[in-house]
Amino acid sequence: MLDERGVKLDISVEEEPTKESEVFYNTDMVLNRDVSVSALQAYADNQSVDLKILDALSATGVRGIRYAKQVEGLEKVVLNDSKPEAVENIKNNLERNEVDRDLYTVEEKDANLLMTENRKGFHFIDLDPFGSPTRFLDSAARSLKHDSYLGVSATDLATLCGTYVKTCRRRYGTWNRNLPYCHEVGLRVLVRAVFEALAKYNKVFRPEISFAKKHYYRVQGKVKETKKGVNRSLKNVGFLVFCEECGYRRFIEEKERRPNCPSCSEETCRIGPLWTGRLGNKEKIEETRIVAEDKGYEDAEKLLGTLRDECEIRRPYYDTHNFGKITGLPVPRLDELLEKIRDKGYTAVKTHFAPTGIKTNCPAEDIREMVVDLNEN
Ligand SMILES: C[S@@+](CC[C@H](N)C(=O)[O-])C[C@H]1O[C@@H](n2cnc3c(N)ncnc32)[C@H](O)[C@@H]1O
Repeated sequence: MLDERGVKLDISVEEEPTKESEVFYNTDMVLNRDVSVSALQAYADNQSVDLKILDALSATGVRGIRYAKQVEGLEKVVLNDSKPEAVENIKNNLERNEVDRDLYTVEEKDANLLMTENRKGFHFIDLDPFGSPTRFLDSAARSLKHDSYLGVSATDLATLCGTYVKTCRRRYGTWNRNLPYCHEVGLRVLVRAVFEALAKYNKVFRPEISFAKKHYYRVQGKVKETKKGVNRSLKNVGFLVFCEECGYRRFIEEKERRPNCPSCSEETCRIGPLWTGRLGNKEKIEETRIVAEDKGYEDAEKLLGTLRDECEIRRPYYDTHNFGKITGLPVPRLDELLEKIRDKGYTAVKTHFAPTGIKTNCPAEDIREMVVDLNEN
């Protein structure tokens, strides 16, 4: 018997669970579920009605059961999986955990069919599929209420990170490249796909929490039906231009021309379209962090603290090792470099994307000079 945050599950834990597992359970996703539970609680705390929510791809039911048992302010939790073995496991796990019978229903349907049947039916939908979530986004867009919340996981990181260029174009509509800061680029490719899917239904998606961890990305955010809101937010979709020689990078708008590198005059490269806006909402992340702290989810609390500090810096993060390659010099200690950047009046913080990464609004050219300076002094 497995115990996840007090929820008992009758399953055997495999080292590397796959699609072929009879019922899928992954211990690497506990942090993802801790953040999701905390974020849903923070969202529910700000609503005037009890919420009807959908765990669309439920497997063992662990997510839906955790929502039902650990989030206050829910009216109904629908747990769904198209696989009969999973549905039987979900039902057993619900009973084993003594979830209030009036609080849930279990469905055995294709998630797209279920969401299509429930037009504007849910205040919150959780999409946590194998691989890419793109094939479920259109139905989720229809099934979300005019004022609602959406959580999406993706595990097709090789595609999102630009290793499989054509697959990324096919699945996400983005021409991508594998860059040293590929996880931020990948997350931005995912956010833009979610935004575009909802935009077709005049619903604007505003990302509140986005992060990359091990083998997955997670994006959560508010949804609101408003044509004007979608139009206003279109400015957050654009392209990334970058210089392969010197590390220069900048987002440009869709209609903007690709500039040459202002630092070394080389021709720049361009990828996109992708999300160029903020990846999170500082206030909402802090509210979620406080919930996670209250619940004793230490890793989630720590992660949310980092996300809160970095979410307003739009420029993609720098991996400091890259400056070592560019300058041919040893890379200074991270804290030393952060301090130097801040001394020059820029914002600079550590990032969750990489232990050797920094998020800053400082241009690459200036950081290069600081690396040289720090080596000379
Ligand atoms: C990655 S697992 C879900 C993990 C789960 N959300 C968790 O937190 O442990 C994906 C699940 O989606 C189910 N599934 C795959 N395609 C589906 C579809 N089209 N409709 C409904 N369920 C589907 C699979 O049977 C599998 O149980």
